[in-house]
Amino acid sequence: MTESVLIVEGLTKRFGGLTAVNKLNLSITSGRLHAIIGPNGAGKTTFFNLVSGLYTADGGRVLFKGRNITGLKPYEISRIGIKRTMQIKSVFPQLSVAENLWVTRNATNGVLHPFRSASSDHATRERVEFTLEQIGLTSLAHRAAGTLSYGDVALLEIGMALISDPQLLLLDEPTCGMSPAETSRTVDKIKILAQTIDIVIIEHDMEVVFEIADDITVMTQGENLVSGSPAEISGDERVREAYLGRPEDEDYVEEAAHA
Ligand SMILES: Nc1ncnc2c1ncn2[C@@H]1O[C@H](COP(=O)(O)OP(=O)(O)OP(=O)(O)O)[C@@H](O)[C@H]1O
Ligand SMILES: [Mg+2]
Repeated sequence: MTESVLIVEGLTKRFGGLTAVNKLNLSITSGRLHAIIGPNGAGKTTFFNLVSGLYTADGGRVLFKGRNITGLKPYEISRIGIKRTMQIKSVFPQLSVAENLWVTRNATNGVLHPFRSASSDHATRERVEFTLEQIGLTSLAHRAAGTLSYGDVALLEIGMALISDPQLLLLDEPTCGMSPAETSRTVDKIKILAQTIDIVIIEHDMEVVFEIADDITVMTQGENLVSGSPAEISGDERVREAYLGRPEDEDYVEEAAHA
């Protein structure tokens, strides 16, 4: 039997007269990397903002491992184990890569008092080193985050999500703005992470989507147009229609269908 890590039922979010997410139904299966694709403005990021509690839903509900998390505050949802990265990158530019991870780890543990025990510091150091290896940034540990390449910032952001013990990781366009080499490195990391953590990824790069996703959901106008395997999605007539006007992606979907 397959277990759902996340179930979304009738989720709705309106901004004035605009319905950004419209009675969205979606099920994310544990252990399967789930990609969400769809045109600009389809409501993908809004969906993440609803799941992570940044926005309050106007209707519907979100179940995480069977628990209704609708209406919980962002910090409560984070504490439960749902972590995310932002479409717009947010790291502390003056701090080093390792310090960014250190600060995030301590914030997660609620270690805010100035006199920490030596053993907790030791555990944090080990965890920082482990995370640096996970994201492949060990050699840049002491570089100021503000001086990193775009791709390395994105990896650091993933590291900051990882070091706070996620059970479900929401990645919003992690390869956006990356060079092909950076994209391929990031894709490799995400594939490895997906072996131990449930991951949902919003991604525009169809090549990346078809390489890493076990399941794909296509969102259009705030709705779930269709969910299925990469083969099912690439062969779906409605998906091609939704992508009309984006010739590059249309070609890719076409190629994938005949592969
Ligand atoms: N805070 C907000 N206030 C008003 N409108 C918003 C807000 N956030 C999103 N929207 C609108 O909701 C719709 C969905 O936006 P959203 O950012 O979720 O799309 P998206 O699928 O992530 O698009 P993209 O691929 O460009 O990132 C858009 O029309 C957007 O302008
Ligand atoms: Mg978005």
